[in-house]
Order: sequence, then C-alpha cells, then structure tokens
Amino acid sequence: MESKIKDQSPVSLTGHFTGYVWCKNQLSPSSFSSLLGKAMYYGTRPIDWVSKVSIGLNLETMLLQRHCLIDELVNQAIDDGVTQIIEIASGLSSRGIRVLQNHHNEDIKYIEADLPDMVAWKNKRLKKEGFSDKRHQLTECNILRNEGELSIEHLLSTLDKTKKTLVISEGLVNYFPLDVIETFWTRLAYALSSFKEGQYLFEIWPKASDHPFAPMIYGTQKLIEFITRQTVPLHYTSNQQIKAGLEGCGFSLATVIDPDKFTESLKVPKMETPTLFRIVQAQA
Ligand SMILES: C[S@@+](CC[C@H](N)C(=O)[O-])C[C@H]1O[C@@H](n2cnc3c(N)ncnc32)[C@H](O)[C@@H]1O
Repeated sequence: MESKIKDQSPVSLTGHFTGYVWCKNQLSPSSFSSLLGKAMYYGTRPIDWVSKVSIGLNLETMLLQRHCLIDELVNQAIDDGVTQIIEIASGLSSRGIRVLQNHHNEDIKYIEADLPDMVAWKNKRLKKEGFSDKRHQLTECNILRNEGELSIEHLLSTLDKTKKTLVISEGLVNYFPLDVIETFWTRLAYALSSFKEGQYLFEIWPKASDHPFAPMIYGTQKLIEFITRQTVPLHYTSNQQIKAGLEGCGFSLATVIDPDKFTESLKVPKMETPTLFRIVQAQA
C-alpha cells in the first residue's frame, strides 16, 4: 500500500521566513537568506509593526528571544557534557555552524535534519558559505515517519549510545495537531531512553487565553495559518499541562521555562508584554 506520508510540507516556507529574520539580525551569514524569505519578511512587516505599537507584542522579537535562548541552553548542555546534538527541522538556521565554531576544539557531533527540499536548499547555502567541518552532518528526516531512513529512530540508531545526546527542535511543534506531535514525542522519548543521557529541547506556543491580548494573538495565528495553508494549533493552556503532556509521553522529567524570567541575565530582545512561548527541557 502506498504511504500517505509526504516528505514535503508548506511549513518549509516558514523556514525561509525565519531564515531571513536570523540574517537580518546578524545571527546568520547573508548567504543563508532567500528571496522567498525576504518577501515574506517585508510582506508581514506592517502587521508586526501594528501589533508592536498597539499591544507591545512583536513576532520578530519573540523569534529572537527563542533563537538566543535555545542557543544559550545548547551551550549549557555542552558545558554539562553533551557531545551529540541533533537539530531536527533546522531549516535555514545557522545554529549548527555557530555551535561548532564556538567550540572549535571540542569533540562534538552536530547533525542537522529536515525534509529533503529544505536539506537541498541548506546544502547549497553551506557550499556557498564554504563551510566544511567533519563534525557537521546535514541529513534528511521526517518526524512523521516511524521507520525507514528518514525516521528519527534511524537517525538516532546511527549514533553512539554511550554519549550524552541532545535533540533540538525550534519552530516545529505547533505545526502539528496535538495527537500527532504527542505520538512523535512518545517515539522520541523511547528512542532517546537507550542513550547514556538523552534530552529534548524545544519551544512550544500554548493557548494564552489569560494573556491581556488574547484576541490579537488569535489574529496572528490565523495569519500564519493563511501563509502555511494549514492549521497552526496552540497546545496546552499552562506550564503544568505542558509538563504533564511531555511526562505522559514517556519523558522522565520535563522542565518548562518562561523566557521572560530566564532572559533577564541574557542579552536578548525584550517586550513590555509577556512573551507567548515556552521552552521545554525534557529528559528521556
Ligand atoms: C518554522 S521552520 C523553522 C526552521 C528553523 N528551526 C528555524 O527556527 O529557523 C519549520 C521547519 O520544519 C520543517 N518541517 C516541516 N515538517 C517537517 C517534518 N514532518 N519533519 C521534519 N521537519 C519538518 C520545515 O522544512 C522547516 O524547515
């Protein structure tokens, strides 16, 4: 029977958008931008500006908070002994390059994984940038596949189980219905449990019905749904629910971080209004 799972997704469009945001803010080399990303960035400027001046919420600022905070937590994980990092849905982010360049003497393996089309885009950009590091690998992966070469199970099976291992995803979880993403988390928790230490670090956007500007947030959600031509569901309604959700999928301990509390000590952009996403560290 032919598989209904596709290895292509309109969500990849948003990878071009965030890719441009990283370039614009000097977090990626300019060769990592695409015309598509630039068009999406400037196309959404007016809405982001109105949201910023009217309610103090700014998507670009939140994306930068997210990106910098995940960087910080990856660096902490390396300080704690992690030597294998797998960034799924890495898109056009250059975190892999940054991490390896900032730890140039260390024995770290950094694997970036995404859908085939995005991997092809990224490969061209890495070549253009002249980036080459034998500790870096770019490979195809589809989180919806539970077997075969594109599955996370296969990818993790190629790694050293005796090493502390970190899986990252950024900008992925809310593009899937809760049951689909929980199925993936359950598979991931199981696959990571055979490692000496397996950790999953990611961001999630919960329903913020008690946020002072909940109706405007709903409008932004609809805009992203229009661009990606699919629903972008918000998951859970509280930190406790997020923690319970992850632990219910088999992670032994999930810690939910409110970026507004964590970033006080970091040089990351801030907003007057509470931020909308959470960062989760889940131990297998
Ligand atoms: C919003 S982008 C985020 C990219 C990058 N992490 C960043 O923050 O710039 C979402 C990414 O998810 C990838 N993606 C979508 N569906 C996927 C799937 N089923 N498996 C793996 N990656 C997927 C897309 O190709 C895209 O690169």
